[in-house]
Amino acid sequence: MNNRDFFRTRLLGWFETSHRPLPWKGERDPYRIWLSEILLQQTRVEQGLPYYQKFTEHFPDVHALARAPEELVLKLWEGLGYYSRARNLHATAKYISGTLGGHFPDTYEGLRALKGVGDYTAAAIASFAFNLPHAVLDGNVYRVLARFFGIETPTDTGAAKKEFAALAAQVLDPARPGDFNQAMMDFGATQCTPRQALCSSCPLQSGCVALQSGIVDALPARSKKMIKKERFFVYFIIRFRDKIFVRQRTDKDIWQNLWEFPLVETNALPEGRQAFGELIRQHLFPFQPEDETALLRAVSMPYRQVLTHRVVNAVFCEIDLPDNRSAEVFEKQAFENCRLVTREELKKNIAVPRIIARFLQEKVLTLGLI
Ligand code: ADE
Repeated sequence: MNNRDFFRTRLLGWFETSHRPLPWKGERDPYRIWLSEILLQQTRVEQGLPYYQKFTEHFPDVHALARAPEELVLKLWEGLGYYSRARNLHATAKYISGTLGGHFPDTYEGLRALKGVGDYTAAAIASFAFNLPHAVLDGNVYRVLARFFGIETPTDTGAAKKEFAALAAQVLDPARPGDFNQAMMDFGATQCTPRQALCSSCPLQSGCVALQSGIVDALPARSKKMIKKERFFVYFIIRFRDKIFVRQRTDKDIWQNLWEFPLVETNALPEGRQAFGELIRQHLFPFQPEDETALLRAVSMPYRQVLTHRVVNAVFCEIDLPDNRSAEVFEKQAFENCRLVTREELKKNIAVPRIIARFLQEKVLTLGLI
C-alpha cells in the first residue's frame, strides 16, 4: 500500500469510530447542508450547533427561510457576528426559492456561484449532498497533509495552495468524498490539532513523516512571521479646573467603546519640547494665533504595549488650561465629543485601554519633565 492509500484508509477507519456526532452528519438535504456550512464559516462547531437547531426549527426548508422577514433572520443570527453572512444567507434562500423554484444547484460550479459560498463551502456541499469528488481545503487540511506527508512548503504562499489542492484531490476517496471531507475536518479539529497533537493515540502515526522526523510542531510551515505594525500615540492629558478631558472611542477595533484621552497618532514618538509644541499648535489650538505651548507641563516616559496584531507606543503629555478659558470653545476647537471628568471618575467609572490604565496606575508623569 502506498502512503496515499494508507492515509485514506486509516483516516476513514478513524472516522468510523471517532467522528463527532453532529446533527448534519448523514444529512442529504442540500438545504440543511448548505445552512450548516454557512453557519460554521469562521465559527467553532460548539458555537454553531445551537444556531443550526434554531434555524432548522424556524425554517424547515428554503422557502420558509426565503419568506422570513430580514429582522427575524438577523435576530436569530445574533451573537454569531459577521452579519453579512446572514444577509447573504437570506438573499441566497430567496434566489433558490424564487428563481430556482426551490432546487439547489447540484454542481460545484453552480454552488460556487451562490452568494456567500466560497471554494471550501462549495466543495463541502458538493461532496456531502451530491457525492461529488471535491476536496475541501482549509487550515485543518493544510495541517494534516503537511504533517503526514512531511510537506515543508510554507502554507502562506500561492504555490502551497496548488500543491495542497492537488494532494487533497489525490488522497480524496472518490467513492466516499463526503465522509472523507468530514473525516479531514474532524481529524484536524480533534486529533491532529495545532498545538499538542495527539500523536500517541493516532492511527496514522506509523506513516506520518512529521512524527518520524520529530517536526510535528514545526508544520505547517509559514514563510512570514506575522509582522506587528508599530503605532505611535501621543495622548494629551488636558486639565481644566481640576477635571480632565476624555472621550469615548467609536472606531470598530479592539478598543471600541473604551475611553481615552484626546490623542494624535504620529509616525514616531516625538522628541524634545519643540516637537511636542508643534503637535499642540497643530492639533489642540489650530485656529488660535497665540502660541500655547507654554501650557505643556510634562511628558511621560514612553509606554509600550504588545497586542496580537500591533505594538502600541505611547507618551502622555500633561497640559494645564488656564481656569479662565472657556471649555466649550476648547472642545469645539480641539477634539470632538470630549467630556470633562474628575480624576476619581476616571479611575473608578471609566474603562480605558490597558496602556492608559498602566500609566494612571504608575503615575510617573512628572518623571519626564521637559
Ligand atoms: N466546519 C465547516 N464545516 C464543518 C463540518 N461539516 N463539520 C465540522 N466542522 C465544520
